[in-house]
Amino acid sequence: MIEKIESIKSEALNEAALIKNVDTLEQFRIKFLGRKGLVHELFEGFKDVPPQEKGRTGKALNELKQVLQEIFDSKKSELETGSAAGDDTDHTLPGRTFNKGTRHLIHQAIDEITSIFAKIGFDIYEGYELEDEFHNFDALNTPDYHPSRDMQDTFYVDSAGKDKKYLLRTHTSPGQVHVMQSNKPPIRVVVPGKVYRNEEVSSRSLAVFHQVEGLYVDKDVSFRELKGTLDYFAWEFFGKGLKTRLRPSFFPFTEPSAEMDVECILCKGEGCRVCKHTGWLEILGCGMVDPNVFKAVGYDPEEYTGFAFGMGIERTLMIKHGIPDIRIFYENDIRFLKQF
Ligand code: PHE
Repeated sequence: MIEKIESIKSEALNEAALIKNVDTLEQFRIKFLGRKGLVHELFEGFKDVPPQEKGRTGKALNELKQVLQEIFDSKKSELETGSAAGDDTDHTLPGRTFNKGTRHLIHQAIDEITSIFAKIGFDIYEGYELEDEFHNFDALNTPDYHPSRDMQDTFYVDSAGKDKKYLLRTHTSPGQVHVMQSNKPPIRVVVPGKVYRNEEVSSRSLAVFHQVEGLYVDKDVSFRELKGTLDYFAWEFFGKGLKTRLRPSFFPFTEPSAEMDVECILCKGEGCRVCKHTGWLEILGCGMVDPNVFKAVGYDPEEYTGFAFGMGIERTLMIKHGIPDIRIFYENDIRFLKQF
């Protein structure tokens, strides 16, 4: 009997080490301490123990029962407090940190720029990345011989069997055409999105980048309002008091056309390497909507006037944050992204 007690004890100790959850704990209880369990069986056999051994055996038996009960109780409380044997997790240690995803810098900028214009009444229109020649060029008064139509500058899409020639939009300006085709003035809208150019990748240019277009059409819209709107934007986006200037330029779809420069943020207009010692950085193209564009969308150019502008988002961000290479935006290096 004593040997049997010892062997059940060592069996129980082995099995106790395997208790990992409520199920194995319950199996342990049923096997050893249950109503038909091994301890009960031993107590049943106690009556057949010879009288001279009853004292010693009884003592061992009670001891076994007590030990098993203690094992059961302590395993039970371990499981309840979550520190089961074999689980060497220290629940008091601080948790491991991991990188949280955030909105990409470019999308943050799109949100910021569009909401700056939303504050003065501009709606947001997304446009299409796949365009036809009419929206990307013809309606925007861009002649057939214009170099931007060249295969070297534009990604054409195989349009065999289609009624039109399709391409990846080279600017967000076709968004203007869609908005005017399906709305009547007054129109105030910004069109943010991806644009595509068949360009050599370098620190200053990529084949895919982002622009935001702006369009305002109504009766008697003036160039002065264009300048006021752009100054408002530059101050909101780059900082109050920043100097701006408009330089005459050319775009087929605006007349007159201009480019807007802001005072170099790095040298405050003193002249440095980034602004090529001019003190100015170009941020966007703009102008009064050309009457031919109005004709293409069925507006009467005698009745309506308007202005339009377009800016590159990556370029604007490079200026604002002093980012030296446009490719960094797309490398998804967490050390870069984390800073914004
Ligand atoms: N679409 C022109 C570009 O991509 C920018 C522009 C938009 C200029 C609207 C004038 C008016 O460079």
